[in-house]
Amino acid sequence: MEAVQDREPSAPPPQHIAIIMDGNGRWARSRGLPRAAGHERGAKSVRTAVQACTDLGVQYLTLYAFSSENWSRPRSEVDDLMGLLRVYLKREVADLDGRNVRVRFIGQREGLADDIIKLIVKAEERTHSNSGLVLVIALNYGSHAEIVQAAQRLAIRAVDGDIQPSDITEELFAAELETAEIPNPDLLIRTSGEQRLSNFLLWQSAYTELIFTDVFWPDFSRKSLEEAIAEYHQRERRFGATRG
Ligand code: FPP
Repeated sequence: MEAVQDREPSAPPPQHIAIIMDGNGRWARSRGLPRAAGHERGAKSVRTAVQACTDLGVQYLTLYAFSSENWSRPRSEVDDLMGLLRVYLKREVADLDGRNVRVRFIGQREGLADDIIKLIVKAEERTHSNSGLVLVIALNYGSHAEIVQAAQRLAIRAVDGDIQPSDITEELFAAELETAEIPNPDLLIRTSGEQRLSNFLLWQSAYTELIFTDVFWPDFSRKSLEEAIAEYHQRERRFGATRG
């Protein structure tokens, strides 16, 4: 794979990278460790990815931290993941703020513990006016629920007489999604060899370049990210048009 320094120096980084951080459990199992150890190491990779995106000039990084389907995992694992998130938010927001990172969350707040909701609100408020990397954490997120919610909001506006059904365009629909102010991802990476989107940014990824790597998330390094970006730069994005 081409090293990032070999590509055209003028090639801009993807504006928005989205990552499905997969393989924590298998990383742990391959070392005879509990799954929680994999998630802990995964949180380290989050720090690495945020730092690398900041350094490379990426403007948006969206991380799939917990899907609306992840509630079906054993209670102890859900607790471990929520505990890690608590630690991350308590320990790292000051540092993220110092690095000019704006933190945002997408996903349903309903169902999350009250203290986590407070930490989310605090993190978003504290970093609100930062102008560097926008770190979007997808927590209790699922695309189908997001799309259904957007449809419901538009239906209510139509019933209220605020809009006509014929006013509903792709733009109006996208404006009702949680990602309304966030550009669509240019590059979506899924680690651990799985090749599916798992209800992540389905509307937003219509023309996103997808890269699947065998690396487990806890092993995902700055070099892994640079390699994915180099591969992205080899792709020709046509958005449905013809070549050239
Ligand atoms: C998938 O691996 C990973 C998750 C469901 C959780 C991702 C969470 C983190 C990386 C840690 C905390 C996040 C933040 C933002 C601080 P898996 O458990 O499905 O792995 P497996 O497929 O190998 O079992």
